[in-house]
Amino acid sequence: MGNNKINYNRILLTGSEGYIGSHVLKLLKDKYSGSEFLSIDRINNIHLEDSEQIIKKFNPDLCVHLAATIGAETSSDMAVDINENNIQNSLNLISWLPKKCRFFFASTANIYGGKLLKSPATEKDQEYPMHPYANGKLIIEKYLQMNYKTYLNWTIGRFATNYGKARSFGNIRYNLVVNKFMDLILQNKSLTIYGDKDFSFRPYVHVEDVVRAILFLLDNNKTIGEIYNVGGENWRIDKLAKFIIDSYNKIMKKNIKLNYDKTKCDDFSYKVCFDKIEKLGFKRKHNLEKSILNELITGKQYNDVMKHISWGRKIKLKAFQGINK
Ligand SMILES: NC(=O)c1ccc[n+]([C@@H]2O[C@H](COP(=O)([O-])OP(=O)(O)OC[C@H]3O[C@@H](n4cnc5c(N)ncnc54)[C@H](O)[C@@H]3O)[C@@H](O)[C@H]2O)c1
Repeated sequence: MGNNKINYNRILLTGSEGYIGSHVLKLLKDKYSGSEFLSIDRINNIHLEDSEQIIKKFNPDLCVHLAATIGAETSSDMAVDINENNIQNSLNLISWLPKKCRFFFASTANIYGGKLLKSPATEKDQEYPMHPYANGKLIIEKYLQMNYKTYLNWTIGRFATNYGKARSFGNIRYNLVVNKFMDLILQNKSLTIYGDKDFSFRPYVHVEDVVRAILFLLDNNKTIGEIYNVGGENWRIDKLAKFIIDSYNKIMKKNIKLNYDKTKCDDFSYKVCFDKIEKLGFKRKHNLEKSILNELITGKQYNDVMKHISWGRKIKLKAFQGINK
């Protein structure tokens, strides 16, 4: 990592102000310091759907496409928005890019979400998307696959659920499981998980490892036309919550409780295999247990971020404009 073998001269990044995108923008700018950049994000009042002319004029040789309507668990309510933003806007973007442009598409491990396979899901396993968010991602994946020979030089990353620090207080996603649990216990609130047995599994990954993985995959032409699961560890939700609570109570001398809500259940449960990207040479830097202990609970940076978030909820998103420049 770090020494770019492949050079990109005009780099387009969509979703550049988001949780992942703000990290990506920083790393891309560090790595390709002599290149031109076009960053697109609604937060900066640049909407992908209105950007045909600037994108065509910019004529990128690399596009990292992260902009999306997010929120798997709530996406049934947001189906129309997801269809427009995640499907139609992505298809339009693909059609505006020059042929053979290198294209990274941010997909999700959530597309495995409907069924717990006997062994962790590999990229070859059947997908079971259970909601519009995962469906939308899979539709774009299939579209890219059908256009492999004639169109873009694409690579797809199916990201596990991210956790870890945001680049600034404006763009952390505290609706993601680990971040949400941390947010709650840092406010001395108890955690509640659904069910009483057969608790669900999910794969997790530190946001910095996702960003490193994107750059790693873009540094290798063997990854063109390939899909990679990007993540780290599969955890059962009750064990994760218990580990966070026990660690926090011990370190901070608190007595926060774990509650079980048996009236509800979690429909999504999946484990994911990360061998393909690891065999290519990618190594994660972060481990969830260590991150919880060193970064999330005791780490000053994360606590600061959390304080900012509580404060940030009260002020308008507009106030975050330009924060990552
Ligand atoms: N964070 C995760 O755990 C995770 C897991 C799997 C996949 N992903 C995917 O990674 C990508 C980035 O996720 P994130 O967590 O950073 O989300 P995020 O919501 O923090 O960032 C998305 C950014 O895209 C922007 N955006 C959305 N629609 C836009 C549009 N039409 N025009 C311009 N800007 C637009 C938003 O303003 C936001 O800043 C998404 O495609 C998401 O589906 C994320």
